[in-house]
Amino acid sequence: GIAHDFNNLLTVIVGNIGLASLASQLPPSCRTKLVEAEKACLQAQGLSKRLLTFAKGGQPVKQVCNPADLLEEAANLVLSGSSSRAEFRFAPDLRNIEADQDQIHQVLANLLINAGQAMPSGGIIRVEAVNVVVEERGELEAGEYVKITIADEGVGIPDKYLAKIFDPYFTTKQRGSGLGLATAFSIVRNHRGSIEVASEVGTGTTFTIHLPSVDKILPAGKPDEFHPVTGKGRILVLDDEREVREIIGQMVGVLGYEAAYAKDGDEAIR
Ligand SMILES: Nc1ncnc2c1ncn2[C@@H]1O[C@H](COP(=O)(O)OP(=O)(O)OP(=O)(O)O)[C@@H](O)[C@H]1O
Ligand SMILES: [Mg+2]
Repeated sequence: GIAHDFNNLLTVIVGNIGLASLASQLPPSCRTKLVEAEKACLQAQGLSKRLLTFAKGGQPVKQVCNPADLLEEAANLVLSGSSSRAEFRFAPDLRNIEADQDQIHQVLANLLINAGQAMPSGGIIRVEAVNVVVEERGELEAGEYVKITIADEGVGIPDKYLAKIFDPYFTTKQRGSGLGLATAFSIVRNHRGSIEVASEVGTGTTFTIHLPSVDKILPAGKPDEFHPVTGKGRILVLDDEREVREIIGQMVGVLGYEAAYAKDGDEAIR
C-alpha cells in the first residue's frame, strides 16, 4: 500500500544520507545538515507508522520492555523545552511488559503532549507505574498488569466531552487532529490493555493505562546502542524494491561485506 511505498522511499533517503555522511572531507556545516535531514526522515518514518497503526490497527511487534524506561524516555522527549515537568514514581519491583515499543512510546507521548497542552503556563505531570492484579473486569482479562497513571493539573475535561475524547477527530484545539487519543486507544486495545480517564474541570486530568505484565526479563544490552559490526563475507540482500536493495547493498559494502541480491524468496535460494 501507500505506507509501504512511502517507507521504502524513506529507507532509500535515510540510507543515502547515512552513506553521504560517511564521506571523510565533509565540511562540518554539511554534516550538521545531513544529521538534521536524517532526523526529519526518522520522524517521517514514525509518522507513517502512526498512520498505519491508525488506519488498520497495525499489528504490534512485541518485545519485552521496562515501562519505567519508556515513560522516562517519552517524558524527556515530549517535555524538553516545555514549561511543564514530570515527576516520576515507579514501584521498585515494577514488572516488564511485552509490547511494541514504538507504539507504546506513541501512546505515552500523546498523553504527555495533551497533559502539557492542558497546562499552558506550565505545571507538574505526575507519572506513576505500579504492579496490579486484576480480576476479570470490563475489557481486561484477569491477570497481572502494570498500571500507569499520567496526571496533570491542567484545565480538565468537561463532563459532556468525556465520552467523546477517544473518538477519532474529536478535538477542542484549534490545530488538533483529534487523533492522539483515538490512536492511543487502538494501540492499547491491540496490547490487550485498557485506557481510562478521570477529570475535573479546573483541577486536572488523570489517564490510567493497564498493560499486561510478564515474568520475562529484558534482553541483555541496550538495544538502542549502535555498534557497527564490520567484517568479511557475502551478505544476501533480499527486497522486492531495487532501490532498497541497492542502498542496503551499499551499506553492507561500507561495512566490508560483499552484497548479493535477490528480489524474492525464489531468487534468494537459487
Ligand atoms: N490532559 C488533558 N486535559 C484536558 N483535555 C484533554 C486532555 N487530553 C485530552 N483532552 C481533550 O481531548 C481532546 C482529544 O484529544 P486528542 O489527543 O485525541 O486530540 P488533540 O490533542 O485535540 O489533537 P492531536 O492529539 O491530534 O494534536 C482534546 O482536544 C482535549 O479537548
Ligand atoms: Mg493530543
